Amino acid sequence: MWIETVGTVGVGLVVLAIWYRKRLEKSFGVHDVTDEIDVHGKVVLITGGNSGLGKECATEMAKRGAVVIIASRDAKLSLQVIQEIQTKIPSANITFMYLDLSSLDSIRNFSEEFQKKFDHINILINNAGVYCPLKRRMKTKDGFEFNFGVNHLGHFLLTNLLLETVKRGSPSRIVVVASTLSEKGRINFDDLLLEKEDPDKSKIHAYGNSKLANIVFAKELSERLVGSGVNVYALCPGWVKTDLARYMQLRWWNYFLIVPAAFLFMRSPGQGVQTILHCALSKKTEDCTGNLYKNCADWNTKSQITGEMAEKLWEASEHLILKSSTKKRME
Ligand SMILES: NC(=O)c1ccc[n+]([C@@H]2O[C@H](COP(=O)([O-])OP(=O)(O)OC[C@H]3O[C@@H](n4cnc5c(N)ncnc54)[C@H](OP(=O)(O)O)[C@@H]3O)[C@@H](O)[C@H]2O)c1
Repeated sequence: MWIETVGTVGVGLVVLAIWYRKRLEKSFGVHDVTDEIDVHGKVVLITGGNSGLGKECATEMAKRGAVVIIASRDAKLSLQVIQEIQTKIPSANITFMYLDLSSLDSIRNFSEEFQKKFDHINILINNAGVYCPLKRRMKTKDGFEFNFGVNHLGHFLLTNLLLETVKRGSPSRIVVVASTLSEKGRINFDDLLLEKEDPDKSKIHAYGNSKLANIVFAKELSERLVGSGVNVYALCPGWVKTDLARYMQLRWWNYFLIVPAAFLFMRSPGQGVQTILHCALSKKTEDCTGNLYKNCADWNTKSQITGEMAEKLWEASEHLILKSSTKKRME
């Protein structure tokens, strides 16, 4: 008798979960493929294009005939991914270039090499990212807190080094993949690199800080580029099944919570990429710049972002990069 009851409750729960999931999926937002700009032959640079959202985005761009460059650290994986994409799309024009956003030298080398090969960029997608708990005490090669260093400072330098190349591709777009976890972040100008925090006790959301910095940077960049023909967008792709948790050192029991949560709430990379495509390709966003998007629609973030803060973050980022480079030169 009890077996029947448990069975009935179990089936009921599964049906309820499937119903909830289907209902939730309706809110994810879908990019309108009938209303896009033509990217055939256009140069699209995607940072971190070998996994998760970047891989999905590279596939979508290759499908449309774009010249796709994926820039990340893992050459072996990137070449495998390129082969996989070319098996699906034999005409795919896609290449890999080595880029380590945790090293200022690597970013400079990449930018130099890139500009030898391409004289313009039509779409730059700042997608690469890491989610690394502060307690892991990870730093970039230049000694910056890992999340802030890779997600913000790395892309800040890369974008600035490639800015003239992006302008030459105008009308062009810069798409910054941020996150709603930016709303848990804070820009503390007295301790941008979280050096005053105790990694074991700190409640600071280091990833959230870096994603807030992404959004603040996108805002300031859009202001500085007004009239240049380059539009800037920042977005949250939603919670997506990818390898982003690779630095989190999850234990096996964590998966008891993660697996049902993933089934109920998480998007597939195909669903997650939709807002990236909306920003990169949609004609609806053609005349917009400096806006935030989520679920292929406007996103009104809860974070307070002011022009003063954006200008100050720009200057502080320049200062951190300059200071680190000068120090290195003197060593
Ligand atoms: N998944 C989500 O739920 C979610 C939610 C909101 C926002 N996002 C954002 O979406 C973006 C894509 O992440 P994902 O979810 O697709 O994660 P993912 O599968 O882990 O992909 C991250 C990509 O970033 C690259 N990367 C990491 N460190 C790098 C470095 N130092 N230099 C160059 N490339 C580096 C990785 O390639 P290599 O390791 O080869 O370098 C990989 O291609 C990130 O910006 C993330 O913050 C994700």
